Amino acid sequence: MAALTTTTGPQHASVLGVGAYRPLRVVPNSDVVDAIDSSDEWIQQRSGIKTRRWAGPDESVQMMSVQASRIAIERAGLEPGQIDCVVVATVSHLLQTPAVATAIAHELGTDAAAFDISAACSGFCHGIALASDIVRAGSSRYVLVVGVERLTDILDLTDRGTAFIFADGAGAAVVGPSETAGIGPVVWGSDGEQFDLIRQREDWRDVVGSPEKPGSGVMPHLTMQGNPVFRWASFAMAKIGQQALDAAGITLDDLDVFVPHQANMRIIDAMARSMKLPPTVRIARDVADQGNTSAASVPLALDRMMAEGEARSGDTALLIAFGAGLSYAAQVITVP
Ligand SMILES: CC(C)(COP(=O)(O)OP(=O)(O)OC[C@H]1O[C@@H](n2cnc3c(N)ncnc32)[C@H](O)[C@@H]1OP(=O)(O)O)[C@@H](O)C(=O)NCCC(=O)NCCS
Repeated sequence: MAALTTTTGPQHASVLGVGAYRPLRVVPNSDVVDAIDSSDEWIQQRSGIKTRRWAGPDESVQMMSVQASRIAIERAGLEPGQIDCVVVATVSHLLQTPAVATAIAHELGTDAAAFDISAACSGFCHGIALASDIVRAGSSRYVLVVGVERLTDILDLTDRGTAFIFADGAGAAVVGPSETAGIGPVVWGSDGEQFDLIRQREDWRDVVGSPEKPGSGVMPHLTMQGNPVFRWASFAMAKIGQQALDAAGITLDDLDVFVPHQANMRIIDAMARSMKLPPTVRIARDVADQGNTSAASVPLALDRMMAEGEARSGDTALLIAFGAGLSYAAQVITVP
C-alpha cells in the first residue's frame, strides 16, 4: 500500500473580515398583519420584530451574496482572486443544482473551490467551522463563508406562524491563517427526531405530480411548529452556548459579545438568562428590524454590532445558530 502525501496548514485560523447586504425594502408589521389576521402589537410582543427587510426582484441570492462578500474580502485586506474556497450556506437558492457558490465565486473573480451547504438557520456557523478546519488542514488558504437567504420566495404570506418572522439578506466572512487562535472549537449537532418542526411543506415530486396523482403545482412553502421550536431553542441552546465557551477554554467573564441566531427576541432573552450572561456582555438584537434571515442572521447581526461599535476588533464573541433539522452549531471567535 502506497503512503500518501497529505497537507497540513497553519496552526491557527481567524475571521479576517465580515460584510453584509441588507435588501433596500423595509417592511413594517403593518404591511404583513392583514394577510395573517394579526397586529403590530402581537408581533412585537411575541417576536420583538418591528420591521424586516424583503428583497426586490434584482436582489437575488447571488447578487446579495456578492455584495456582502466584496465588503468582507476588502475588510480582510485581500483581493477576490486570493479566495480559494467559497462555502455558501442557504436554503433559498431555488436550483437543486448547481451550487450557487460557483456562480458567486465566478462573479467575484476567483476559480475557488465552491459548494453550498444546507443546514438552514445554523448554516453560517457550520460554514465557519468548516472554514477553520479547511484552513488549518492546508486545503485552502482563504475561505469565504456566505450566509444568504431570500426566504420570501418560499414564504406563504398568509401563514400566521411564519409570514411575520422570516426575511431576506446576506452576510459573509473571510477565514484565513492567523498568529493566534481566533476561532474556537465548534460544538455542533442535530436532533433529527424533530425533523418535521421546520420544513419545506412537501417534496418537489408532490408538486409536479404523476399520471396517477396530480401535483399541487404550488411552491412548497416553509412551515414551522413555532411553539416546540421556541421551547427547544430557549433551553437546549443555552447549554450548547456554555459548551462552546468551555471548548474554547474561556468563561463568561472573558466574553464581550453574544451573537445568537436572530430567530426571535424572546428566544434571545431566554438564552441570555439561561446562560446567566453578565450585564457587560453586549447582545445582538438585529432581529427587531431585520427579521429572521436564517443562514444570514448571525453575520448580519455581527456586522451591525461592528458597525455600531458594540463589537470591537479583538473582542471575544460567542456565535450560536440553530434551526431546521433540527441542527445547531456554536463557536467562540475573536472579532476581526
Ligand atoms: C411563532 C411564535 C411567535 C408563536 O408564538 P406562540 O406563543 O408559540 O403562539 P401559539 O402558536 O401558541 O399561539 C398563541 C395564540 O396566538 C394566536 N396566533 C398565532 N399566530 C398569530 C399571529 N401571527 N397573529 C396573531 N395571533 C396569532 C393563536 O391563534 C393562539 O391564539 P389562542 O391562544 O386564542 O388559541 C413562537 O412560537 C415562536 O417565536 N417560535 C419560535 C419561532 C422561531 O423563532 N423559529 C425560528 C427558529 S429558526
